[in-house]
Amino acid sequence: MVQFIFILGSNWKLSLAELDICLRSTPFKGKIIDYSSNIAIVEFSNLINDKFYVDKLETLQYYLGGIQKIAKVSSFINYQTLKKSFPIKTIKFNEIKKERQKIKDELVTILDDIFPNIKNENIFFANSIYPNLYDDIYYKEVVLKHLLPFLNKGIRTILKEKGAIKALYYKYPQKNIDSGNLNPIFPHHVIKYQLLKPNRAEIVIGITEEGIYIGRTYTVDDPNFKKKIDEERPKREFKSAISPKLAIIMLNFLNIFEGRKEKKILDPFVGNGTIALFGLIEDFQMFGSDISKKKIDNTIENIKWLQNELELPPIPNIGHKFKTIDIKNLSKIYKEGFFDGIVTEPDLGPFFNEKPYYSDGIELMEVKLQPLYETIFKESYKVLKPESRICIVSPVINILDDSHDLRIDIENIARKNQFKPIPLITAKRIVNKSNKILQFNKSKLFSIIDTKKGQIVKRKIYVFEKE
Ligand SMILES: C[S@@+](CC[C@H](N)C(=O)[O-])C[C@H]1O[C@@H](n2cnc3c(N)ncnc32)[C@H](O)[C@@H]1O
Repeated sequence: MVQFIFILGSNWKLSLAELDICLRSTPFKGKIIDYSSNIAIVEFSNLINDKFYVDKLETLQYYLGGIQKIAKVSSFINYQTLKKSFPIKTIKFNEIKKERQKIKDELVTILDDIFPNIKNENIFFANSIYPNLYDDIYYKEVVLKHLLPFLNKGIRTILKEKGAIKALYYKYPQKNIDSGNLNPIFPHHVIKYQLLKPNRAEIVIGITEEGIYIGRTYTVDDPNFKKKIDEERPKREFKSAISPKLAIIMLNFLNIFEGRKEKKILDPFVGNGTIALFGLIEDFQMFGSDISKKKIDNTIENIKWLQNELELPPIPNIGHKFKTIDIKNLSKIYKEGFFDGIVTEPDLGPFFNEKPYYSDGIELMEVKLQPLYETIFKESYKVLKPESRICIVSPVINILDDSHDLRIDIENIARKNQFKPIPLITAKRIVNKSNKILQFNKSKLFSIIDTKKGQIVKRKIYVFEKE
């Protein structure tokens, strides 16, 4: 069966969860059959039978917030062969040579799959290696220093033998290879070096505990597009806004992949409208509310800017879709079962420059956040359609005088209001790994943290379904 390599974002658990939700939907039905902290290997049930499956892959790439690239697998080399051809310690070189020849023979076949034409072509390629884990000593010492040069030179030689006029490869900075600190080329490099053209390619080498998957990149995310919208919109607040990537992932957790234009999605803490803007880009019918009129004005200004930038048709009645509402009055404004989904990051409390003391943290939790989350679920229950979902950020606060973080018992609040938690990752769908770092310690994972280094208030992502 044809397999695809999906390159995961930096929060690989979140990317994996988002991908799995997409693969449960009818248009993209499939399964993750293997993964590492950098890649997921996917088999589709039907997609590949479609004549225009590359177009579908592009749609999938566009829908996914947490996937950097998608490559089609041309070959798989098992871990035993890899370890025998590139051992940590070189003892019997003749045996190593024999094993490496097996890989070379495999490359001869793979290259005909990767390049539609080789003879008389000027070929340029970039080898991108995605290790099981970046901290892996085997990656730093063996893969980068021996496998990468072997592939660069080996592929170049084979291409020449197959009649290419020129065969050049992308040279990574030697100092990064020497220090064991090498990132494969970024998605924008794939665009810059035109690696989606027939005579040019990014060759992805994805390593998992099972072996190496080798394939060619077919689609890439356009990070500059999202960055531009996030950074150039007229109104933004760096401190309180979530990233475009997270906004898109949360929208996908609603599990709506068909008829998006008819689906009404609300962000009741819309702020400057990050979720609303990316919801519109991802084809949803977006609604937003906020206690602050200024924030609603900001969101409307941002949306009008977006429409102008992307030349989208104007949203009729924009003033009715984005309104000043206190969350406690939500169901007074919107009728029962009006929305198909809610995606939101509520007010997570003040922006802390330093960790708060336990007493301050617990007061914030009990006096402000706990009641706020109670209200959110009570009101959301009324305005959501049956069996529709809410994807919500919950705060996890780092405390100065306590080693335990403070968090809200959001699952309990949700259950009390007749919402059931939806697992983001289930052991049944995704095979577990033997490396502890790659394991999911529970058979069902109901939340995933999204945080940057040193962040005091971390975001925990949950999904609940109205019962
Ligand atoms: C963390 S910000 C949301 C930021 C937003 N995700 C963005 O990207 O701009 C929280 C928002 O909740 C709003 N807010 C606070 N209390 C509220 C309430 N009781 N009802 C509705 N909105 C409220 C604030 O005005 C603020 O805009």
